[in-house]
Amino acid sequence: MQSYSILAKYYDRLMGDFDYDGYIDFIKDYVKGEGIDLACGSGEITVRLAKAGNKMIGIDLSGEMLNVATVKAKSMGLDIKWICQDMLDLELSHKIDFATCVCDGINYIKKDDLATLFAKVRQNIKDGGIFVFDISSSYKLKKILGDNLFCEDYDDITYIWQNTLKKDCVDMDIDFFEKIENDIYRRIEESHRQYIHEREFIQSLIEKNWDFEVFDGEKFSSPTSKSKRLLFVLKTK
Ligand SMILES: C[S@@+](CC[C@H](N)C(=O)[O-])C[C@H]1O[C@@H](n2cnc3c(N)ncnc32)[C@H](O)[C@@H]1O
Repeated sequence: MQSYSILAKYYDRLMGDFDYDGYIDFIKDYVKGEGIDLACGSGEITVRLAKAGNKMIGIDLSGEMLNVATVKAKSMGLDIKWICQDMLDLELSHKIDFATCVCDGINYIKKDDLATLFAKVRQNIKDGGIFVFDISSSYKLKKILGDNLFCEDYDDITYIWQNTLKKDCVDMDIDFFEKIENDIYRRIEESHRQYIHEREFIQSLIEKNWDFEVFDGEKFSSPTSKSKRLLFVLKTK
């Protein structure tokens, strides 16, 4: 079953509480020049970085999410290159200044593939380049999302989001009920798998080739054991 297909249509609305402006405010001094936004989704970060004067590329596995991003950028008059591709296959024609991967993109990468991802990013950015990414923390995935059930009910769409905590991941099964007309709803299912990555493991993968700092990705301050999002800011060594 595909991820981010029906969800693409409602993603921005359902992400209403994600502080994209605060995030950009925090990272904007690190990222300048030509950049790529990995797992860019509907392009909320990509368009903000483009609006700030950066030359941007957005890459995502989901064509539906990229359609939303394309329409959004066009409506703002922004010239952004969108690529529908697995970020593990990243291969640019020239080296760029920075990469970002915001709001869980890294949680979609299996533990065994993380080293490949960091190597790919390093190969495609210049010496002195920056890689900013975040993860939903192991604390959040195990203790908050875990085996829990979430739902939201709007006039036109209702969803039930059922999580199953496994050893190294959380499986997320979402049932959408989309209003067709009056009392008629269409049921559509989507499944996602987010991998649990421990902070120490990520650090062990990056410390050889990158200098880095880690922040709480919601408060933009020092992380604690209960931080829900960990934000890593890397600079090539
Ligand atoms: C939670 S969304 C985040 C989207 C966006 N970065 C944001 O901040 O709103 C995760 C995105 O990761 C994308 N994704 C998952 N695995 C991917 C992969 N291997 N390569 C590229 N994109 C991927 C999904 O299609 C989805 O758009």
